[in-house]
Amino acid sequence: MKGELKYEGKGKQLFASDRPDELIQVFKDDATAFDGVKHDVIAGKGELNCAISSFMFEKLHEAGVKTHYVRREGPREMRVRALDMMPVEVVVRNVAAGSICRRLGLEEGLKFKWPLTELFYKSDELHDPMINTEHCELFGWATREEIGRMRDIALKVNGVLSSMLAGVGIQLVDYKLEFGKAGGEILLGDEITPDGCRLWDIESGRKLDKDVFRSDLGGLSEVYHEVAGRLGIDI
Ligand code: TMP
Repeated sequence: MKGELKYEGKGKQLFASDRPDELIQVFKDDATAFDGVKHDVIAGKGELNCAISSFMFEKLHEAGVKTHYVRREGPREMRVRALDMMPVEVVVRNVAAGSICRRLGLEEGLKFKWPLTELFYKSDELHDPMINTEHCELFGWATREEIGRMRDIALKVNGVLSSMLAGVGIQLVDYKLEFGKAGGEILLGDEITPDGCRLWDIESGRKLDKDVFRSDLGGLSEVYHEVAGRLGIDI
C-alpha cells in the first residue's frame, strides 16, 4: 500500500508505506542523461529496472552485503528501509570510460590494475562535482569512518557483481552507489541498474547500459532486456 509521496528524483519516487521505517520505491519509465538535460519516456523501463535492481540486491544480500531492499512489491515497486541518505555518490571503476577519460585524458577501455573508487557530491545544479574525504568531513556530509565503510562495501559489491556478470559474458566497467543510515548502520541504498552502471559485452565490447541512450547507440529497452535475459531474470 502506497501512502504520501516523500521524494521524487529523475528515475524514481519514494512513497510512505504502512510502516514508518519502510518506504515504497517506484521506478519510473523516464530516462535522463547529462543531469536531466536529455529526457525521454521509455515504456517498460521502470519495470525492467525494478526487476534488475531487485535481483542485484537479492544477490548482494546472499553475499552478506546489507542494503535497504526488503522485497519487490509490484512490477515497478520495491519495499525498502527508510534511510537517512548521504549526499555522496561512490563510483567504482574497473576500466576507463566516461568522465575519467575526459578528466585525465585516458583512453576508453584501459583496464585498471585494481578497482578505483571516486567520490562525487550529489547535486544536479553543480553537475555532481568530484570531491574527497576532506570535503565530506568539512561540510558534514559523512565522517572519515563512514567514507571508509562505504568504500569497503562498494568494493565488496564489485567482487560479487563483477564475477556474476562475467559469468554471463558481461564486463562490469563502472558503477555508482548511494548509501544512507538506518539504526546506526550504513546501508547500500538507491538502485543497481544499467542506468547507473557501464556494462560491456565481453566478446564484442558492445555497450549494454545507459550509454546507448546518452549517445543514441540504439534501443535502451532492448539492451536492458538483454542484460535481464542473460542473468535469467523474469520480466
Ligand atoms: P561517469 O563516468 O559519468 O563519472 O560515471 C561513472 C559511472 O557512474 C557510470 O556508470 C554512470 C554512473 N553515474 C550515475 O549513474 N550517476 C551519476 O550522477 C554519476 C556521477 C555517475
